Amino acid sequence: MRYEGDIYRPPPEADAYILQCTIGCSYNKCTYCSMYKDVRYRVRPIEDLKEDIRMAKAAFGNKVEKVFLSDGDAISLPTEMLLEILSELYSAFPKLTHVSTYAGPQSTLDKTLDEFKQLKKAGLSMTYLGVESGSDEVLKAVRKGVNSAEMLAAGQNIVEAGIKLVAMVMIGLGGSPELSKRHALETAQLINQMNPYLLGLLTTVPMEGTALFRQVTKGDFKLLDPYEVLEEIKQLLETLTNDELLIDSTHGSNLLPIKGKLSEVKADTISHINHHLSKKDNNLIGKAYVGRF
Ligand SMILES: C[S@@+](CC[C@H](N)C(=O)[O-])C[C@H]1O[C@@H](n2cnc3c(N)ncnc32)[C@H](O)[C@@H]1O
Ligand code: SF4
Repeated sequence: MRYEGDIYRPPPEADAYILQCTIGCSYNKCTYCSMYKDVRYRVRPIEDLKEDIRMAKAAFGNKVEKVFLSDGDAISLPTEMLLEILSELYSAFPKLTHVSTYAGPQSTLDKTLDEFKQLKKAGLSMTYLGVESGSDEVLKAVRKGVNSAEMLAAGQNIVEAGIKLVAMVMIGLGGSPELSKRHALETAQLINQMNPYLLGLLTTVPMEGTALFRQVTKGDFKLLDPYEVLEEIKQLLETLTNDELLIDSTHGSNLLPIKGKLSEVKADTISHINHHLSKKDNNLIGKAYVGRF
């Protein structure tokens, strides 16, 4: 297989064949994100993608059941091109049942509901949207490029088209404990309205080379301590209302792995958090930010 630069994919796509449709991220301005900082964004030519698919077919034969379209924001490709890619994939791999991609909010807003419906019909089954926060203040501070109303519209288009939406949210992105509470509350409220299939939680990690890292170093952004992280997760869980929502916080950046339906994990997780908060176990300190992106 041919790949350029570092390849990222969400944890549930670990067993997917990755087709690198773009190099980098079409937006690439979020203050916390180091993933595609070193590469200049470009779309790979469709002929190269078709050749990659032929190579994957020769290597994996009929074994491919899942495909992830990388890099950071493949939904930004023109819809016609995405439809052509989906058609090639489904004719190459007879057992294919799942094609997913990352979706930045701005490129999602550039597409109409009708385009998403066409993509769903052609076999795009899941998209991973970086929601990060429901707070306008936080979204602005991290230069996400949209406000919470625009983020909601982006997510709703995907949901309405029938494509499974994974909303990724970043714990600790508010920084100060004061903003943490509002970040948790407004994020949960946004998720309640957006109604994704799955909520993926990640804990904010200051990655070297990013604007956020410089803010942390200068003391302009305060990372939450593990107890504040737990408080934030508790506030988020208490405010979420859709019992059917799936939650996954098993990403390596997280202090507390949660996986399951909200109705099944909410009470136990809150009581577990309350226990840690009352015990103030020092062993928790320093274990919140061990992840890698
Ligand atoms: C490729 S982006 C997701 C799709 C799309 N590019 C977007 O941002 O909407 C990967 C996700 O990883 C998470 N992430 C990136 N850098 C992170 C960091 N330093 N700490 C914690 N989470 C991070 C964010 O939730 C981000 O949305
Ligand atoms: S978080 Fe997503 S949109 Fe923002 S720079 Fe990273 S890959 Fe691009």
